[in-house]
Amino acid sequence: TRRVFSGVQPSGNLHLGNYLGAVKRFVEMQEQDFETIYCMVDLHAITVWQEPKALTAAIRELAAAFMACGLDPTKSILFNQSQVPAHTQLAWIFNCVARMGWMNRMTQFKEKSGKNAEASSLGLYAYPSLMAADILVYHATHVPVGEDQKQHLELTRDIAIKFNNDYDCPGFFPETEPIIEGAATRVMSLRDGSKKMSKSDPSDLSRINLIDDADAIAKKIRKAKTDPEPLPTAAAGLEGRPEARNLVGVYAALSGESVDQVLGEWGGRMFGEFKPALADLAVEMIAPIAGRMRDYLADPAEIDRILGDGADRANAIAQPILEATYDHVGLLRSR
Ligand code: TYM
Repeated sequence: TRRVFSGVQPSGNLHLGNYLGAVKRFVEMQEQDFETIYCMVDLHAITVWQEPKALTAAIRELAAAFMACGLDPTKSILFNQSQVPAHTQLAWIFNCVARMGWMNRMTQFKEKSGKNAEASSLGLYAYPSLMAADILVYHATHVPVGEDQKQHLELTRDIAIKFNNDYDCPGFFPETEPIIEGAATRVMSLRDGSKKMSKSDPSDLSRINLIDDADAIAKKIRKAKTDPEPLPTAAAGLEGRPEARNLVGVYAALSGESVDQVLGEWGGRMFGEFKPALADLAVEMIAPIAGRMRDYLADPAEIDRILGDGADRANAIAQPILEATYDHVGLLRSR
């Protein structure tokens, strides 16, 4: 089988980067010849402090966002991580397979822990090991993600290879293929073309949130940082122009065109013309999501039911793989 797994943290502020880099791709893969499993990784979210009530709300909001973006619980398995215990059970085994040196190279840990690694949670350090378990507990073969997750997926492969090797079970865990494709695998901040668009940026103007209304979306694009030059006529001309590159990439991803096609149309014209067109396109594609999200959120019991059903289906796949893993490791199971 060709099985897709991916995850998103329920930590609020789902934004255009998450949409174009990940969720939009999730929907495309759902419509193709794949079995698709999409997870709200609540246990990853708590590697940094989350207010309990806000976390519960964020999990439901993320489920609503997934469905508002086009994920269909009858076509994909949608669930939250903490309801399928096999993830954390496999993660422990991977904690014993992965090496300290591998973890020490993870750039995301370095970024998130900043200057104060000593005060970071142990969970934040072990984060990539749980992520490998998320994927491999389903023997997933394809993982659609944004560019920033590439290193974690390389680590996932390393863990799979070392496990298969250590326990002499060639091919037991697959070497998962990252799917990092399209014009917007790394959407940048609208205020600073050198920083990635992020949930945690203190400036709300830096990102387009999926819950933003049409006015907010248009305003943020109008205020987006640009340079005073006209748009180049070919992609090579975006070199050294991070803000221009970002907006052209976003336009391409939203319109379904290539960057070259967008520049074929817009090359030589100024941002004063391009930005209103981009704003119209973004409003057309993004603004309806918020309305659909609110509709889903009006019935939280239904969301909980969908996630419970997803967890049952996820568990049915994960449990036998966990048990086979225990057998490879030599753990005794009497039941
Ligand atoms: P998270 O929650 O930070 O982001 C969810 C997805 O959105 C992508 N993304 C972006 N893509 C383009 N431009 C951006 N500015 C941008 N910001 C975020 C991310 O690459 C991701 O695909 N560790 C993961 C969650 C995770 C996971 C997994 C993913 C846990 N287990 C297993 C895949 C498979 C994360 O923090 O994503």
